[in-house]
Amino acid sequence: MFHTNYDHKSVLLEEAIQALNINSTGVYIDGTFGLGGHSKLILSKLTKQGRLLAIDRDWTSIKIGKIIADRDSRFTIIHSTFSKINKHINNMGLIGSVNGILLDLGVSAFQLNDDSRGFSFMRDGPLDMRMDISSGQSAAEWLSKASLENIIWVLKTFGEERFAKIIAKVIVSTRRYKPIVRSIILSKLICDIVPYRSMHKHPATKSFLAIRMYINNELEEIIQVLEDSLAMLSPLGRLVVISFNSLEDRLVKNFIRDHSCIISMPPKIPLTDYQIFNKYKSKHKLKDMGKLMPSKQEIKRNTCARSAILRCAEKLFI
Ligand SMILES: C[S@@+](CC[C@H](N)C(=O)[O-])C[C@H]1O[C@@H](n2cnc3c(N)ncnc32)[C@H](O)[C@@H]1O
Repeated sequence: MFHTNYDHKSVLLEEAIQALNINSTGVYIDGTFGLGGHSKLILSKLTKQGRLLAIDRDWTSIKIGKIIADRDSRFTIIHSTFSKINKHINNMGLIGSVNGILLDLGVSAFQLNDDSRGFSFMRDGPLDMRMDISSGQSAAEWLSKASLENIIWVLKTFGEERFAKIIAKVIVSTRRYKPIVRSIILSKLICDIVPYRSMHKHPATKSFLAIRMYINNELEEIIQVLEDSLAMLSPLGRLVVISFNSLEDRLVKNFIRDHSCIISMPPKIPLTDYQIFNKYKSKHKLKDMGKLMPSKQEIKRNTCARSAILRCAEKLFI
């Protein structure tokens, strides 16, 4: 048995499963298995005919998922990124038949609290930051050779960091005599030059987030899976996404808006309602089901939930 020795609390657990509006014989995808909190609740709602495909790019999640898959034939787990779910669903012959897709974005507290991963500015460990340690470059490798301009761009684009220029300059001058290979080296270096803006926000928060998002190609991953979701979902199938920062949430919000806007035609246009519907139906594939945030009680129980936003959309029956 694989033990994590970790008190895992899935964010917006009940709310996400409710938003999926589970059909007990349906086909579901959990694109971010993590420690399986959401997956386990989905499985508990499915009958023998139901199926759940889970994906994660982290090998720890795959080990945990395989334990469930070994004893539950309704469940499959694949080591992959969610931008490739479409390919797996296609191989399974399930394009257009998926009743719900859940994405609980970002890293899990389990990954953040593992010193050996380098995700946290509060812990000392090798500065890796890859969710999948078997592919791509680590944060330390990237920082050892990235140009000043590239570092500034990453900090600004993915962290919206006001002090991007000065942080990048210090990284480039420091690495000449001291390799930045541990999380605490990078964290201290930023603390020395960036003032504490608020008691609750460590000065390295934005830089660590930016580097992690860049190293894991996080925004591209989201853009791809959202696009693919339209083909994967069945009519009335649900897309449920939990985001943890404004960049992620903006992508999800805009995607849902762009595919579900109400068509407003100028008055006196010489088309019947039926003709208008047929003309525009191929463009509008989703119904916006709204958003929700964690309750005060959930945030009190689990501070990781404080920035979470859940958005839900339903594929139209056309
Ligand atoms: C917030 S956790 C999910 C927690 C999970 N819902 C639970 O209840 O245990 C996010 C997970 O998604 C995975 N992940 C993030 N981006 C991914 C991607 N592009 N493809 C596949 N997995 C990804 C991470 O490795 C992490 O395990």
